[in-house]
Amino acid sequence: MNVTLVGPGVHGTMIAALLARHGVGVTLYHYKPAKAEAAAAQVRAVAQDPSRVAVENDLHRAAAASDIVVLATLWGEAQRQVIQEIGDELAGRVVVDVSNPLDVTPHGIIRALSPHQSSGAFVAGLLPEGTSHVKVFSSIGPDALAEGADLADPAVLAYGASDARGKKAGAEMVRAVGWRPWFLGDAVRNAVRLEIGGEVNVLRGRRGRLITEAEAEAAFGPEATDI
Ligand SMILES: NC(=O)c1ccc[n+]([C@@H]2O[C@H](COP(=O)([O-])OP(=O)(O)OC[C@H]3O[C@@H](n4cnc5c(N)ncnc54)[C@H](OP(=O)(O)O)[C@@H]3O)[C@@H](O)[C@H]2O)c1
Repeated sequence: MNVTLVGPGVHGTMIAALLARHGVGVTLYHYKPAKAEAAAAQVRAVAQDPSRVAVENDLHRAAAASDIVVLATLWGEAQRQVIQEIGDELAGRVVVDVSNPLDVTPHGIIRALSPHQSSGAFVAGLLPEGTSHVKVFSSIGPDALAEGADLADPAVLAYGASDARGKKAGAEMVRAVGWRPWFLGDAVRNAVRLEIGGEVNVLRGRRGRLITEAEAEAAFGPEATDI
């Protein structure tokens, strides 16, 4: 598996590091090349095979490098710019959306949408037809994601997807970073649950610790089989 990650900042670099630590190839794109290189250095330091951590400074070539493209910028305008620039090349690929609808302002970080709206729906509205949309990694911060990886009784990470290809790719990615995937169903219908303030968000914070498969079933009901 190779995964392209667009916008490696705090969260994206941790996701890339966890993937690389587990032997997944990673291609990093940042619109500021120095930031891509800085992220790559962090990721290579923990990678199973540092030669499989690449930087690509052309967004089209970065997207073309993988079947899975993780959008790890802040939500909103940055997502719009990236998706519009890649355009139809995303069709046939899986786009992983880690976002929460939060704006970083001089007054602090504020929720940008009403509690019934999601950045997942915003992203879905931008994706070209034929793109699989996966909503995952928005529900947990980078430190908890790293701490919860590879536990003897695997910790559950919930996700949603727009179609069967996304469901499969989401499960593979979550497993690849050492978690137990928990499929909730459609990406957009479950986005509010997965994003900031949602019932599935910050599993660790809400429950004081990570949750196991049995606890996930008790909390969320049975894992979804259909989309
Ligand atoms: N941090 C968390 O605890 C956490 C937890 C769950 C989910 N998330 C989600 O993860 C996403 C990223 O959050 P973060 O905390 O990692 O933010 P961040 O550190 O600001 O990372 C976002 C990165 O995207 C870059 N970027 C902006 N526009 C870009 C473009 N057009 N192309 C490529 N890169 C671009 C930014 O660069 P510049 O800053 O130089 O513009 C920045 O390096 C958000 O949607 C957030 O909701 C974060």
